[in-house]
Amino acid sequence: MNRRDFHRLGTWFLGGLVKLAVAVPAAAFLLTPLRKKGGAAEADAFEGLVPLSQLKVGVPQAFGIVRDQVDAWVKYPKEPAGAVWLVRQPEGAEPAVVAYSAECPHLGCAINMADDGKHFICPCHTSAFDLEGTPQNQVPPRPMDRLKVELSDDADPVVRVKFERFRTLAEEQIPLA
Ligand code: FES
Repeated sequence: MNRRDFHRLGTWFLGGLVKLAVAVPAAAFLLTPLRKKGGAAEADAFEGLVPLSQLKVGVPQAFGIVRDQVDAWVKYPKEPAGAVWLVRQPEGAEPAVVAYSAECPHLGCAINMADDGKHFICPCHTSAFDLEGTPQNQVPPRPMDRLKVELSDDADPVVRVKFERFRTLAEEQIPLA
């Protein structure tokens, strides 16, 4: 190998090293969202909303879900993610609390409490539900979506809810991926 070939080989080798030094961190950055389980883990998590003692039996109360929102590369800390209705059941009932998503199964508007406090309504297209989430007219395609609930081990247990979204307009409660 003559001197010129040696320099050429050296230049080629150093150039390769520089490209690798740039490419490896760049690839790691781009692939991070695919490797990260944070978003899915958060979606699977139960969120503590209120001590059980603060809920009145049979009286629905709404709670907002606030969580860090993560899209592919950006984390938006503490943004509203949705809302739920909690209804405490009579003593001894199982479960002790029923949780409904406040997202209307028709097209996703927010479900409110009617003025009489005896049923839920959605103002967008007049869906109505009783306090068990059963449809009271033909507008909603299914009952209000029930969410999983658990109670903490505290003396005054905290009501914890697994907040999820479901497909609108479907007759079944189908979780969104
Ligand atoms: S979105 Fe609720 S009635 Fe249409």
